[in-house]
Amino acid sequence: MSLQVQSTQFIGKALHTFAEITSTNEYAKQCIAKNEPLHGTVILADYQSKGRGQASNRWQSAAGKNILASIIFRPKLVNVNEQFIMNKFISVAIAETVEKLCNEKVAIKWPNDILIDGQKLCGLLIENILRKQNIEYSIVGIGLNVNQVAFAEQPNATSLKLVLGTDVDRMDFLEQLFLRIEFWIDEFNQTKFGNIKRAYFSRLYQYQEKANYKVKDDVVRGEIMGVTNQGQLQVLINNKIELFANKEIVFL
Ligand code: BTN
Repeated sequence: MSLQVQSTQFIGKALHTFAEITSTNEYAKQCIAKNEPLHGTVILADYQSKGRGQASNRWQSAAGKNILASIIFRPKLVNVNEQFIMNKFISVAIAETVEKLCNEKVAIKWPNDILIDGQKLCGLLIENILRKQNIEYSIVGIGLNVNQVAFAEQPNATSLKLVLGTDVDRMDFLEQLFLRIEFWIDEFNQTKFGNIKRAYFSRLYQYQEKANYKVKDDVVRGEIMGVTNQGQLQVLINNKIELFANKEIVFL
């Protein structure tokens, strides 16, 4: 995979590309352990033999078809209690880039999915390396289905090609995405958190809608009211706001 990222300020200026790798997130961790990678270093692969998804799931992706990327950030002071803000603006940047290309509204499904037409287009695996109470490095892993059209083991998956009916150049898409992420990092650095939240909640799947959820073994009726900066989902259930971490609540 060859890539030139000319128009960005810093994302992708240092770039490691692989035909095959175990996992781009794992490679990012090795970079961090071995040296001091530049802010905005990108690792890209055509294929991952041990691609990782959320909660120790595998991330499977056909070779050479999709985006398998990790971006290493060294963000300006982000306290551990506010680390989900990264997830929010990265999700927004992905959603906006897809919306521009597909001319269609995209949903962000808490905590890590990007949906189009209700189907999963992209998953995020963000891993933060902390020093004391702050994020020292953030590894933003992005698995985005681009030109794959058959998903035998993921019935709820879709791709840009399935939506648009044409192939999409992965590098062109990535460059647009990186520019959008840089825009939101700027907003973040200027502490424009209100803008980030507005953009996030305007796309949040089932936000302020009544829906059924599974909590432990019960089916409950609830309404999503927010997402804390630590990443917990706030759901109104029986007139009381309850907080859920990933996997503690299931969308039905
Ligand atoms: C999920 O939806 O479960 C998250 C999937 C994240 C997959 C990406 S692909 C690039 C990066 N490297 C990995 O091993 N995982 C993430």
